Order: sequence, then structure tokens, then C-alpha cells
Amino acid sequence: MSNDIIIAPSILSADFAKLGEEVRAIDEAGCDWIHIDVMDGHFVPNLTFGPPVIECIRPHTKKIFDVHLMIAPADPYLEDYAKAGADIITVHAEAGHHLDRSLQFIRSLGKKAGVSLNPSTPESVIEYVMDKVDLILVMTVNPGFGGQSFIEAQIPKIRKIRQMIGSRPIDLQVDGGVNADTVHMVAEAGANVVVAGSGVFKGAPYADNISAIRANAAKAMAA
Ligand code: DX5
Ligand code: ZN
Repeated sequence: MSNDIIIAPSILSADFAKLGEEVRAIDEAGCDWIHIDVMDGHFVPNLTFGPPVIECIRPHTKKIFDVHLMIAPADPYLEDYAKAGADIITVHAEAGHHLDRSLQFIRSLGKKAGVSLNPSTPESVIEYVMDKVDLILVMTVNPGFGGQSFIEAQIPKIRKIRQMIGSRPIDLQVDGGVNADTVHMVAEAGANVVVAGSGVFKGAPYADNISAIRANAAKAMAA
């Protein structure tokens, strides 16, 4: 796996009134993927958007649509997200009883299959699906909102999952409270994809925020 961190800005922190424009702006600012947070007001205490909105922003960029489903159940809707333009579809291990089936279903739709773990969920829940996942997402906040503080207690989990992955072609993604000040911890622990919402959309221009995250991740990976 390359030494370059993949940066996936979360459009949860974008201005929803001009979402297409915001997606083009982060594309031009040098992001790698676009992270799309889908919330149902049931699995998580917040509500965002669904397939029609994803379909509307799809023509605004060619970059990878990394769709993080915080919905339960997820299975009945997976096909809709695939059709709307998702490239990677990530479900939560806690959101259904049949993770193995959900992952196989996502792959059968021709998409990359991701699994996400809440902060209180141990890495052991994915031990027997390692050959069915393309991406593992470690949450470093309790999902539902942008702008929360990074939970450092997740660092050992990131390290353990990096070991579990071994030489498999699986991306290890971290989401929640990641910004230029915290990215060194996750990069050093073995993550190769970071999500950043407020870390990209708030404060400095998007391109500056993305460059700062990239530079600090590279420093930590080289150390
Ligand atoms: C939280 C979402 C995150 C969120 C991250 O439930 O899954 O993707 O947008 O936002 P920040 O980077 O601000 O913590
Ligand atoms: Zn997310």
C-alpha cells in the first residue's frame, strides 16, 4: 500500500444549500475521495439525506463516492445507494444481524464493501469477514454529528486492525475528529484513509486544510 494518505472530506460539514458547488470545491482543492454521511435518525440521532441527493451531486465530480451508511436496517436500501452513484458502501457492524450477508450483497452490486465500527465495538466482530471487506472504518467519535472531539482510546484498535489486515488489499479508514492536529496519531497507528469534516470545511481555505492534513500524515508515516 502506498505511503500517501487518502483524504476523504465529509460533506456533512459542507453548506447543504450549495452542495454541488461544495463538492466541486473540495475536488479542486485536492481531496482524494468524497465522504458521504447518510443518517436515519434511528441508528444515529441525526438525519441527513438519501439516494436522490447523492444522485444529484454525482455529476459534479469524478472522484470516488465513499458512502457511510449510518442506517438500520441497511440491506433494503443498498441497491438504491449503488444506483445513486456510490463507489464504496460502508455499513455499520452494529446496524444489522447479518454483516456477512450485507458485505456479500454490496460486492454483488459491483461496489466495494466497507464495515464500520462504533467506538465501543471491538475489532473481533470483523475477524471472520476479513475476506469479504474492501474497507474497514474505525469511528473515533460516536457517529451522528460533525465537529466532535477525537477519541484517543481508539488508537490501539486501529493498530490491531492494521495487524489483522496484514497483506490483504483492505483500506483502513478513520472517521471523527480528524484534522491537521490529530491526523498524526491515526497515520502512525496504520490508517491509510482519513475522513475530515470540520477539519476541511472550517477555518482556512479547503486546499490549505487538505494540504496540512496531508503533510502531517506524511510526516507521521515517515517517522
Ligand atoms: C460522524 C460522521 C463523520 C463526520 C466527521 O457521524 O460519520 O464523517 O462528518 O466530522 P468531523 O471530521 O468534523 O468530526
Ligand atoms: Zn462518516
